[in-house]
Amino acid sequence: MLITEVVIYDPFAPEFQADPYPVYRHLRDEEPVHHHQSDPPFWVLSRFADIWDAVRDTATFSSAQGLTFYPDEIGALGLAPTIVMLDPPRHTELRRLISHGFTPRRIAALEELLRAFVRDRLADMACRAADGETVDLHRDLSSPLPTFALAHLLGVPAADRARFDPWVAALTTLQDDGFDAKALTAGSAAEAVAEMFGYFGDLITARRADPGDDLVSALAAVEHLTDWDVLGFCFVMVAGGNDTTGNLISHGVMLLDAHHDQRERLAAEPSLIPNALLEFLRLEGSVQSLGRTTTRPVVLHGVEIPEGTKVMMLYGSGNRDEREFGPSADRLDITRRIPRHLGFATGPHFCIGSHLAKLQARVAFEELLRAYPHIGVDLSRAERIASPFTRGWRSLPATGL
Ligand code: HEM
Repeated sequence: MLITEVVIYDPFAPEFQADPYPVYRHLRDEEPVHHHQSDPPFWVLSRFADIWDAVRDTATFSSAQGLTFYPDEIGALGLAPTIVMLDPPRHTELRRLISHGFTPRRIAALEELLRAFVRDRLADMACRAADGETVDLHRDLSSPLPTFALAHLLGVPAADRARFDPWVAALTTLQDDGFDAKALTAGSAAEAVAEMFGYFGDLITARRADPGDDLVSALAAVEHLTDWDVLGFCFVMVAGGNDTTGNLISHGVMLLDAHHDQRERLAAEPSLIPNALLEFLRLEGSVQSLGRTTTRPVVLHGVEIPEGTKVMMLYGSGNRDEREFGPSADRLDITRRIPRHLGFATGPHFCIGSHLAKLQARVAFEELLRAYPHIGVDLSRAERIASPFTRGWRSLPATGL
């Protein structure tokens, strides 16, 4: 790659999105506090330690103005802020209340259901492959699994699933664009989101009157959680828990296909899967960057970031920082010790769904590698998401079935 291409950080450029890692390295080494003079302008942190400290310091780096570099993201949504856009102390309180309903036990109870779903999907994929059809790892497995898990968790009745899937797809598109105000006011995606809110609003009312054993009923029963709190949480789960999880699975298969020795080892030693998942997330994070807004001027590496400006945290860069992960930071090592990473962020906003994501991905890899130890992907026919914030796939044809 030419050096002139390497130094330009442009989160919208297709070349950057295809391979952001040389640019990340340049930023870390040469310009760890980067002032991006675009419209809108923003600042960028790329080193692991800087991001780690900033994200944990919510008094200085606030989430209350939204998580992208778009200035009017919360207003554009026309919503009250959800958990992910609140600062302590309100965030602390809401997260505590939500944790009463969103418990590890409730998540763990999904395992067998998810396993049955994956087996069913794999059997279907194998049949279609045997008939000579192209099977798509992302569309046929990685992406449907989290949608199924969330619909089940939220207690969306089976009869309504056909409505749920398009809402998820619309919301995912908006999420990839970072809830850009223009996209929101223009498209049918906004209608889908409004429809989803209406649906979940009604579901909450119904569950309050007649509780089931689903998450919505459990949250509705928590004292001090308002309808909006429950609705907002459902919204963040659907927006933040779908594509992220699907892309973890798809990226994992892609990484293993580039390292057949490690794929073989993982198939032989499934107990390594939980650690391998963290390594996949570290190398190819579903969430590449999210922002905060400074509440005071901050001086870092001799550069002053003014008060009231957006600062993007390049999680995907921090996760490959040699200063944290050593000289092999860019290489896959499913046995690597990973005491801390930024794949699920850190601090008060650390992903509350990380257990659910890891459960789904673990089950998917256990079943995939058992049934198809040579599973791979055809990158020449793959299609990536075009997003400045997330990394992943629209389509990823499978091989080795
Ligand atoms: C591999 C999959 C996933 C990845 C990579 C991921 C990543 C993240 C990240 C980076 C954050 C922090 C946001 C910030 O820095 O402001 C976050 C927060 C969050 N995630 Fe996830 N996530 C995943 C799966 C899920 C799932 C399955 C759910 C469903 C419950 C979920 C729900 C949430 C919620 C509600 C928050 C906000 C927590 C808070 O603000 O306290 N995520 N996630």
